[in-house]
Amino acid sequence: MDDRMIDGELQDQDVEIEFSLRPSTLSQYIGQDKVKENLTIFIQAAKMREEPLDHVLLYGPPGLGKTTLASIISHEMGVQFRSTSGPAIERAGDLAAILSSLEPGDVLFIDEVHRLPRSVEEVLYAAMEDFFIDIVIGSGPSARSVRIDLPPFTLVGATTRAGLLSAPLRDRFGVLSRLEYYEIKDLCNIVERTADIFNMPIASEAAIEVARRSRGTPRIANRLLKRVRDISQVKGEEEISLESTKEALQMLQVDDAGLDHVDHKLLKGIIEGFHGGPVGLDTIAATIGEESQTIEEVYEPFLLQLGFIQRTPRGRVITSKAYDHLGIKRTGED
Ligand code: ADE
Repeated sequence: MDDRMIDGELQDQDVEIEFSLRPSTLSQYIGQDKVKENLTIFIQAAKMREEPLDHVLLYGPPGLGKTTLASIISHEMGVQFRSTSGPAIERAGDLAAILSSLEPGDVLFIDEVHRLPRSVEEVLYAAMEDFFIDIVIGSGPSARSVRIDLPPFTLVGATTRAGLLSAPLRDRFGVLSRLEYYEIKDLCNIVERTADIFNMPIASEAAIEVARRSRGTPRIANRLLKRVRDISQVKGEEEISLESTKEALQMLQVDDAGLDHVDHKLLKGIIEGFHGGPVGLDTIAATIGEESQTIEEVYEPFLLQLGFIQRTPRGRVITSKAYDHLGIKRTGED
């Protein structure tokens, strides 16, 4: 997949800015009010009982702040934050090494938790439930099982699709929080906060414009803002203007609704090749040369949210709203 400007996935260029922009407390965290409200209570109660917080599963599209929330949880609980990912833990021994190095109450964040190997996942069950692991040492007749007691800890798992998680793993999380695409007003506040950290004033219409075209995703908003800032700076502006913002977004081929050339390729592929659908996911993927899974997890969720695509039992269908947005007339046979 090429590096799309409006791809919610983490790109190399984001790592540094994400780190420096990341809020460290729930009160600094903008948006996701329901999730924040719940976590505030659960954290307060756990602290009153002097117990670790129950295990938390955060799920939702990429770029909405799952890692940020996990690190905020550790900060609010006053414990260390340890971070890894599902594919990075290859064997049960890797997991044992991480778990046995935790201090009581620590937060272990596992990104892409649905990609843990099955053998590791099975060891994780007892670790989450009763804070011990059984590890088999050696092989053949001399193999023996050793029990290792663990400090109580909080697992914060993140996944883009809760449906991909096995039921036994999902059942072991006490708190399940779904992150939603952000409202424009929240994104606008995030853009203004970031501009403030960059020490670059921004006109409020310009902040709204960036927010409107960021597909409900703070990671995209911050990435777009960086490019907008470049143009504004080169033009010698004291404050980022709406004009520079529009110019930058046009250069980046991000349209009025926040769609880029891949979204256009997807929508037009269905309109031109299949009279607007219905058409199966795999057929679309083959036609436009993208992977089915990437379409399903990265491109499609926002197009569904905008009401540009509908999922039907017979496949994907392009809506009138999308035809209108693209300025394409429906022909009689569609
Ligand atoms: N930066 C990125 N996401 C944010 C959020 N939800 N709140 C505050 N700052 C952010």
